[in-house]
Amino acid sequence: MRMMVTGCNGQLGRALLALTENNDEYEYLGTDVQDLDITKLDAVQAYVAQQKPDVIVNCAAATNVDGCEADEDGAFRINAIGPRNLAIASRKYGAKLVHISTDYVFPGNGTVPCTEYDTPAPRSAYGRSKLAGEIFVQQFAERWFIVRTAWLYGEGKNFVRTMLALAEKHDSIGIVDDQLGNPTSAMELARAILTLLPTEEYGIYHGTCEGICSWADFAEEIFRLKGLDTKVERISSQEYKKRFPASADRPSYSALEKRMFRLNTGFRFKDWKDAIAEYLNGTPSHT
Ligand SMILES: NC(=O)c1ccc[n+]([C@@H]2O[C@H](COP(=O)([O-])OP(=O)(O)OC[C@H]3O[C@@H](n4cnc5c(N)ncnc54)[C@H](OP(=O)(O)O)[C@@H]3O)[C@@H](O)[C@H]2O)c1
Repeated sequence: MRMMVTGCNGQLGRALLALTENNDEYEYLGTDVQDLDITKLDAVQAYVAQQKPDVIVNCAAATNVDGCEADEDGAFRINAIGPRNLAIASRKYGAKLVHISTDYVFPGNGTVPCTEYDTPAPRSAYGRSKLAGEIFVQQFAERWFIVRTAWLYGEGKNFVRTMLALAEKHDSIGIVDDQLGNPTSAMELARAILTLLPTEEYGIYHGTCEGICSWADFAEEIFRLKGLDTKVERISSQEYKKRFPASADRPSYSALEKRMFRLNTGFRFKDWKDAIAEYLNGTPSHT
């Protein structure tokens, strides 16, 4: 299977490469902004026409949530126009399209995990741009999967690495305790995505590790697994906003229900605590 991956230098792109590089079933065609800018329709069409992938996995995105708030047009260019271009090319050249989206399309004011069929209502520029990308994929692609994930960590910049870097300099760190979600290993998400590719089970999927925690719980688990005695000062989102006024609003509850994976491919995500232990232990699948 010829698998084109956009944003291949990002966390999810690298995880997909790690899982497929020694597997003859896959031919990995990795692109990133330096060689293929997904915001350029002509360039996207030319690449897809020439390479004729069987499937396109769109891992490219503007993922800096606060950065998106500061430049909403820039966010829409990458997170909405980009997937639109890939959707158009995927239909024209007969490729399946897997587009990655986010829990931030939801308002995050519920108390039970959001299902794939709940109505999105984003509260940040990042969430709005990602929702527009989802809508374009549904409008312009023919054979599509949208996979919403959350709180992702892998090879790249992420919460886990930020916490470990902060712990080197501080004995105590203020971390938000009133936002709940599903920390998710990029490797687990990549494994799940691979189960979709050979199928025709199109639609919207939620792809996150099992179990729900707050950012403060997540940080405590990271420090515990690394044997660090860094203290977690549990703070509210309001307090965080006072300390970092430019930060975007984030959902207070954005856990995702994974019914579509359960019903269609049977893929079961690891519990978040097992996945973070695997990541921090540097097991072969994460190197
Ligand atoms: N990270 C999370 O916590 C999280 C949570 C929910 C959903 N998601 C979604 O999951 C997907 C994968 O996230 P990730 O963490 O792997 O992202 P990532 O590490 O930020 O990687 C994104 C990649 O896309 C590249 N890119 C940016 N603009 C591009 C363009 N115009 N054309 C081509 N490539 C471009 C980036 O390059 P530069 O680095 O040079 O910009 C980067 O290499 C994204 O759709 C994201 O929205 C992520």
